[in-house]
Amino acid sequence: MKRPNRMDRLKKVFIVGTVMGLAAGAVITLAASRIAFHARERSFTAENEELTKQNEELQAEVSRVQAVENSAELLKSDSENWALALVNEGHPLDTSYEPAELTEIESERSVDSRIAEPLQKMLDDAAQEGLSMYVASAYRPYDKQREVFNATMQDWINQGYSPLNSYDETKKSVAVPGTSEHATGLAVDIISSEYEELDDRQGDTDEQKWLMEHCWEYGFILRYPEDKGDVTGIIYEPWHYRYVGETAAKEITEQGITLEEYVLGQ
Ligand code: DAL
Ligand code: ZN
Repeated sequence: MKRPNRMDRLKKVFIVGTVMGLAAGAVITLAASRIAFHARERSFTAENEELTKQNEELQAEVSRVQAVENSAELLKSDSENWALALVNEGHPLDTSYEPAELTEIESERSVDSRIAEPLQKMLDDAAQEGLSMYVASAYRPYDKQREVFNATMQDWINQGYSPLNSYDETKKSVAVPGTSEHATGLAVDIISSEYEELDDRQGDTDEQKWLMEHCWEYGFILRYPEDKGDVTGIIYEPWHYRYVGETAAKEITEQGITLEEYVLGQ
């Protein structure tokens, strides 16, 4: 057998070296590309998360604008934000608005059918706790609101106030017709059977204490809290609850804010 000469050995070393070099190069390239891939993946994920967050913020902004711009349209829409419709002195509700469907909760007390179930559950759970309360007022169309407003204004006039002062006093507790959220069918006045007066002390009853603590769990908020009259335009009403949906109710309650502050970001 012919012994490999020096040239053959060099050739062999060269070939083996080249193959090993190529293999090592391939491994390094592969590892480098994997590192680059993971780095890009991480950056895509971060970018995606950022875009999703921005999108959510934009959606929230859109729903806030909708809630403020045209409450009647929003209430009628399929948008998941229908319950955020803002109705107050500065944001009147189209006087011809009527909820598409009403459900009677108690005799002559109806609400928008979309809130009947959570409202009933809240009342049932309160009753289970041994509390006694009832819905004193619910959906009030424009004409009914006008009756309530005029009757209250007359009371002030009877007490000796001028018509102008009577009007100003009345609108602190009864929304001017066309600006009451009772016309949405999403608001209810709930009164303790143990204390039926509509004054601040209503808030001290066990019924209201329970409602104030738990209403958010059912998608409701105490709409006119104490010390928020400058924001809502309405005095403390410890009986007036408004359905806003579970998410908003939780956030509004946690932040201790009003619907105005929530949708207008005031
Ligand atoms: N009492 C509330 C503010 C209303 O009249 O709508
Ligand atoms: Zn009310």
